[in-house]
Amino acid sequence: MPTTTWNKAQWKNFPAHQQPNWPEPGVLERVIAELSLLPPLVFAGEIRSLSEMLAAAARGEAFLLQGGDCSESFSQVTAPNIRETLKVLLQMAVVLTYAGGKPVVKVGRIAGQFAKPRSSDRETIDGVNLPSYRGDMVNRAEFTQEARTPNPKFMLRGYNMAASTLNLLRAFTRGGFGSLQRVQAWNQEFVAQSPMGRSYDRLGKQISQAIRFMETIGISAENPQINQTVLFTSHEALLLPYEEALTRQDHITGDWYDCSAHMLWIGERTRQLDGAHVAFLSGVHNPIGVKIGPDHDIDDVKRLAEILNPENRAGRLTIITRLGSKRIEKVLPPLLREMKREGLQIVWSCDPMHANTYTATSGHKTRSFNDILSEITCFFETHWSEGTIPGGVHLEMTGNNVTECTGGAHNIVDEQLASNYLTSCDPRLNAEQSLEVAFQIAEMIRS
Ligand code: PEP
Ligand code: CO
Repeated sequence: MPTTTWNKAQWKNFPAHQQPNWPEPGVLERVIAELSLLPPLVFAGEIRSLSEMLAAAARGEAFLLQGGDCSESFSQVTAPNIRETLKVLLQMAVVLTYAGGKPVVKVGRIAGQFAKPRSSDRETIDGVNLPSYRGDMVNRAEFTQEARTPNPKFMLRGYNMAASTLNLLRAFTRGGFGSLQRVQAWNQEFVAQSPMGRSYDRLGKQISQAIRFMETIGISAENPQINQTVLFTSHEALLLPYEEALTRQDHITGDWYDCSAHMLWIGERTRQLDGAHVAFLSGVHNPIGVKIGPDHDIDDVKRLAEILNPENRAGRLTIITRLGSKRIEKVLPPLLREMKREGLQIVWSCDPMHANTYTATSGHKTRSFNDILSEITCFFETHWSEGTIPGGVHLEMTGNNVTECTGGAHNIVDEQLASNYLTSCDPRLNAEQSLEVAFQIAEMIRS
């Protein structure tokens, strides 16, 4: 789709999957009109700097760490929750930066991840059939007709929740909360407490030594490079009226940017070549992610790259593979080979979550730490053997001590899932499990 003919409303000419059945069109229109006048949440200059960093990731000179809730909930937008998620992302980033010897680009699934695609439009419980819960920006999870009826006004709430989340993230990242020394002190605490402590200890100590060395030669803790950090935001661009309302023209370049977040991605269920999501995102200048599941057609992926990145610019397109620990070994190599043969510029990122979901004996939707790690390991090894670049990881995780995924150093078992199972959608790695993933990747990329 040539950008010259693109406009932000043209997606309406294409089929849009996974959209709620909004009642009362008048309310939707009023909400969208109101959102269109509200200030952008992020600005084009920030988005451009993320694009540059992702271009470095495509070349293997940086690494993308993207993570956060499967679905954010309005009731969970609290200072402690935001702080804990940020804290873990920063801790992981320090470990990965040290081990990989390259900058880590931090992108949260945060400040706008309020809408979910669902495998079925409606849900039946005990003979009662209601619309599925589609995220807090659409309806409420409670199983009543009233709660499940989509309400466009929730998009305004979502905008406000995103704004207050972003405000606190900016304060934390600018204000010294994420200083290198503090983050490393948290890592040392983690290493001391983990049952796997001994195997993480060596790396932890080496990072501390590196920091002491910098201090010794006079790189002060007050230096902004040490004392400040940047966290970009991202979410699935699912609700197209919302995304359109926040899409603005940059006064400097004249280009269009979706200013609801720095990076947007297209989900596995909405990436149809002739669909509205692809049509919409083809014209905004943000970096775009696309989820690719195990049953993809390689030609479709190629076409997606052509449509979404016609100029083949590095940093524009991130392909987030979510293939499953059992299928990745077979499915990833031919995809990488073909994209490499075509010379396509891509940040390859691994989502080891979405194709590893199963139902535990306790009835909870879960994922096992070992499957997650095994998909990540296979992702790296396949890229190395194909001569392509493993550019990032995409995780569902939280800074809280939840029990949603099994395994990890504390070996959470099925019977324990109920004790702190809080997710409103998919199971997340808890803080410890997330850090373990970072330490395990670190060991892998160092050797
Ligand atoms: C998600 O990231 O929460 C999601 C729904 O992923 P996918 O589109 O890959 O299934
Ligand atoms: Co999810």
